[in-house]
Amino acid sequence: MNLTLNRTDLIRSESLLDGAWVAASDGRRLEVINPATGDTIGQVPDCSAEDGRAAVDAAQRAFGLFRHTVARDRAALLMRWHALVLANAEDLARLMSLEQGKPLAESRTEVAYGASYISWFAEEAKRGGGDIIPEQHANHRLLVIKQPVGVVAAITPWNFPMAMLARKIAPAIAAGCAVVCKPAEDTPLTALAMAALLQEAGAPAGLVNVLTTSRERAAGLADTWLEDFRVRKISFTGSTPVGKHLARQSADTLKRLSLELGGNAPFIVFEDADLDAAVAGLMVAKFRNAGQTCICPNRVYVHQGVYERFIDKLAARVGSLTIGPATSGAEIGPLINARAVDKVESHLQDALGRGAKIVVGGGRHHCAEAPNGHFFTPTVVADVDASMRMSCEETFGPLVPVTPFSTDEEVIALANDTPYGLAAYFYSRDIDRVWQVAEAIEAGMVAVNDGALSTEIAPFGGIKESGYGREGSRYGLDEYLNIKYIRHGNLAARQPA
Ligand code: SIN
Repeated sequence: MNLTLNRTDLIRSESLLDGAWVAASDGRRLEVINPATGDTIGQVPDCSAEDGRAAVDAAQRAFGLFRHTVARDRAALLMRWHALVLANAEDLARLMSLEQGKPLAESRTEVAYGASYISWFAEEAKRGGGDIIPEQHANHRLLVIKQPVGVVAAITPWNFPMAMLARKIAPAIAAGCAVVCKPAEDTPLTALAMAALLQEAGAPAGLVNVLTTSRERAAGLADTWLEDFRVRKISFTGSTPVGKHLARQSADTLKRLSLELGGNAPFIVFEDADLDAAVAGLMVAKFRNAGQTCICPNRVYVHQGVYERFIDKLAARVGSLTIGPATSGAEIGPLINARAVDKVESHLQDALGRGAKIVVGGGRHHCAEAPNGHFFTPTVVADVDASMRMSCEETFGPLVPVTPFSTDEEVIALANDTPYGLAAYFYSRDIDRVWQVAEAIEAGMVAVNDGALSTEIAPFGGIKESGYGREGSRYGLDEYLNIKYIRHGNLAARQPA
């Protein structure tokens, strides 16, 4: 797929800073690579810490004005952005597939998913509200108002370059905040196109600044924001080690934090489950974005009474998945880079060395159409146990480890035996078990008899070392708002009429 779009002006090669498209202050550039071919598809600025400071200056200025806007006007800005995103959905999807590698059909779905956060928060902007507290003395009035936290640093991941950016920037704008944003090094083009559309929608200069940077310079740029008192909130989606670093580094300025971090989701199939539905749900949950999602099942536990039957059904589905570049119509695209393939391979080798068995798949995939691509064959591994790396670490690839279990107590203990707590899935038709397990599982999100969790109307987020804070839903806006209690005293006491 070539980088040809209906609107070529959406292919930006500069960062957006204070309403202007600019190079890095020292002129350094970063190449954007197509993971399916290894080809360079564009260049963007490799911004420095100094650029990061300039972005905060701009955002702080913009915030000074934007904080006074009314909710209706912020909602209107978001709705104009939403309309432009939908009008340019195909271009955004093509850009995303090119730099991220996911099948075009998945990119189209992601654009719709990301856009749904923009329209959701346009509505929520108008519902922020506050409270009146019944007074204890007749000459007092007590009320609670909500105000924007200030400048927000949004640090977005490569696996959902459009939707995660929309999920952070839309609530920030809805609340009245200004934003400095650093998209992932691998996928800057989608972020810049989204910024161009927001500018076209009428966002004031400096309201949202998007700075692209290399892996090498990312920490320096982020540290500038962490140390800057004017940045009052960080919203980050990415790995747990980086999330912990952000929490530590922002402690000195006590910023608000929303951290959507790593996962190690269990997927449990009880003996009373509808096995076909469970296999279908697992296929959806596991193979979206070639297994590169924080919420994809990383450990599959199957009751021993249905273990063999489930594995046979799963193997038939996994074995028929097609692999190829984004526009080939294949269901599984490349992984993001060579390191990602190495990690999946090392998890597989570790498990095989400890007694696990390959059921289907089992290694790197050579794609004749894209010989330099980072492909991995969708793989099912049976007889996995808790000692293996694939049970303890997030694999982030198309690998399905399956473990047998015999009792509910055993599987709940296994499912919870992880520092992570983002998503969990299970299949059962026993209503008592459904409630017992749903309540016992330690995760921020639990899907029962379903392989999908993501929607703008529900709170997305984790517990334990999967982070804190919620994105989307009616809870998502509060992450960007400070609560202020106002007490008005010494009023004339109410007189009977
Ligand atoms: C993620 O994997 O980081 C987000 C997935 C989603 O929103 O569905």
